[in-house]
Amino acid sequence: MRPSERAASRTAVLVCQGRAAADRRLAPGRFSDPIAVDLLRADERTVVEQVRAATPPAGWSERAAYEAVRACADVVAARTVAIDDALHDRPHPQLVILGAGLDTRAWRLPQLADVDVTEVDHPASQGDKRVRLGDRPPIARTLRFAAVDLAVDELDEALDASGHDAEVSTTWLWEGVVPYLTREEVVRTLRAVGRRSARGSSLIVNYQTPSLRARFGRRLTEIAAVLGLQETATANEPWRTLLTPAQMASLLVDAGFGIHADEDLLAVSRRLGLDSTARISLQNGRVAVALRH
Ligand SMILES: C[S@@+](CC[C@H](N)C(=O)[O-])C[C@H]1O[C@@H](n2cnc3c(N)ncnc32)[C@H](O)[C@@H]1O
Repeated sequence: MRPSERAASRTAVLVCQGRAAADRRLAPGRFSDPIAVDLLRADERTVVEQVRAATPPAGWSERAAYEAVRACADVVAARTVAIDDALHDRPHPQLVILGAGLDTRAWRLPQLADVDVTEVDHPASQGDKRVRLGDRPPIARTLRFAAVDLAVDELDEALDASGHDAEVSTTWLWEGVVPYLTREEVVRTLRAVGRRSARGSSLIVNYQTPSLRARFGRRLTEIAAVLGLQETATANEPWRTLLTPAQMASLLVDAGFGIHADEDLLAVSRRLGLDSTARISLQNGRVAVALRH
């Protein structure tokens, strides 16, 4: 099913649960996201509390949900620290978050007090987030929302309409979205980002590398969902694009960027002293930082 035909992203909720489960528990002093839990509904918080208390529930389906949030917490703690460090190192007056989901940075990072933030997301996911947020004020200097289905809409037009200024340098953040798009959608989005990036702009992109084991695990989950054995966040949001670092580098160069850094999340996790249960997901998840020539 293409994103335009489905409801709000459930993987966005899963990663938010991961951040709520990791908050001040994993890599304390380096990672915290106290806002994540506020964006979750009561029924979505139950499993977060179980993970925080390390009390796995009985029952196959509940246990699977518990393990998914526990593993996700390991991944998002490392991924968030890598991205927040990159944001801190290269500030720009504009930040565009592509496929923002339940990202909390505009409410969480004091350094964004001088930054105009635009959150881009699929209309269904963005609508859901805005209901969850209510009237919580952001820390960011300004916060704008651009509802865009990257599979069908023109990112350029939506950003023009939202007030993004292509002449002013921008930090682009693309976290946890690339795998859900087709290769053609990834290329089209990157080209639009390149066109709208003033010299010196930076792009922080998180992507997944090919892994037979990870693909097999997700396929099993999809089959379990189809058979009605288990409801999962990932079943309706299949991975479409996995890229090697060389392939990602080539796409970035094609869009006018040079690679500044590209690191896998296992390395980040080790640096943070995390004792991870999600080694494979960490090894195959990467954060690249690219700079516009
Ligand atoms: C796993 S969530 C990641 C959310 C957020 N970046 C994070 O890391 O917490 C995937 C996000 O990609 C977005 N997404 C997937 N396909 C999309 C599309 N065609 N157009 C716009 N957004 C899309 C979903 O709406 C969702 O917010």
